[in-house]
Amino acid sequence: MSDFPVITIDGPSGSGKGTISLIIANKLGWDMLDSGALYRLVAFGVEKHGISLQDETKLADYARTLDVRFEQAKGSDELAIYLEGEDVTRGIRTEKAGNAASKVAAIQPVRDALLDRQRAFSQATGLVADGRDMGTTVFPSAGLKIFLTASAEERAKRRHKQLKDKGIDVSLPALVSEIAERDARDSQRAASPLKPAADAIELDTSDMTIDEVVERVTTLHQERFK
Ligand code: DC
Repeated sequence: MSDFPVITIDGPSGSGKGTISLIIANKLGWDMLDSGALYRLVAFGVEKHGISLQDETKLADYARTLDVRFEQAKGSDELAIYLEGEDVTRGIRTEKAGNAASKVAAIQPVRDALLDRQRAFSQATGLVADGRDMGTTVFPSAGLKIFLTASAEERAKRRHKQLKDKGIDVSLPALVSEIAERDARDSQRAASPLKPAADAIELDTSDMTIDEVVERVTTLHQERFK
C-alpha cells in the first residue's frame, strides 16, 4: 500500500462526512474519494441490468468493471458522474439509491471488487477519503482518521435539507426511519461494518457548525502531517 498522505472521514449517513471531506480536500488541494458514490453506482447499474443480489459472481464482475467517469462541473464544487455514459449525478443521490447501495455494500465480493479502485484514488497530492470503512479496511495506515457522528434526529434533519436543496422531496419522518434502517444494516453487517478504527478520532457534530468541524479537522491535520 502507498504511503501517500490520506485523511479518512468515516461515519453514518448525515453525519456531515461528505460536506466536511469536500471542504477539507479543497482547502488542502487534495483529491477526494466519495466511496459511497461507488456503492450507489453499483446498486444503480445492478438494478438497470437486472442483476440478482443473489448472484455474487455477476455482482462482483459488474463492480470490478464499473464504467464510471467523474467530471468537474464548471462553476460548481459538485462532480458530475456518468455511469456507462449516462449522467446519474442526481439519480444516485436519492434515499432509494442510498438504501439500494447499503444492500449491495453488505456483499463481501462487491466490497473486494471495489477495493483496488478505491485505493487507486490515493496519489502523491493527498487524499481525503469519505465512507464507512476508509479507516478500518481501505486505508488502514492513513495518517489521520476521523469518525464523525451526530444524533439520529440531527442527521435526518441535515439529510432532509440537503435533499431539498438538490430538489429531491422526501418527508422527514420517512427519512428518520430510512436512516435508522440503513444505519442498522451498515453497522451490523459482517463485511467491513461501519465502526471507528481503533486509532480514529471521534467527533460528535450534533452541536457543532460545519466551520467548527472543519477547524478541528484542520488543526488535527496540522498536528499529524508536520
Ligand atoms: O455515504 P453514502 O450515503 O453515499 O453511502 C451509501 C451506502 O453505501 C451506505 O449506506 C453504505 C455503503 N457504503 C459502504 O458500505 N462503505 C463505504 N465506504 C461507503 C458507503
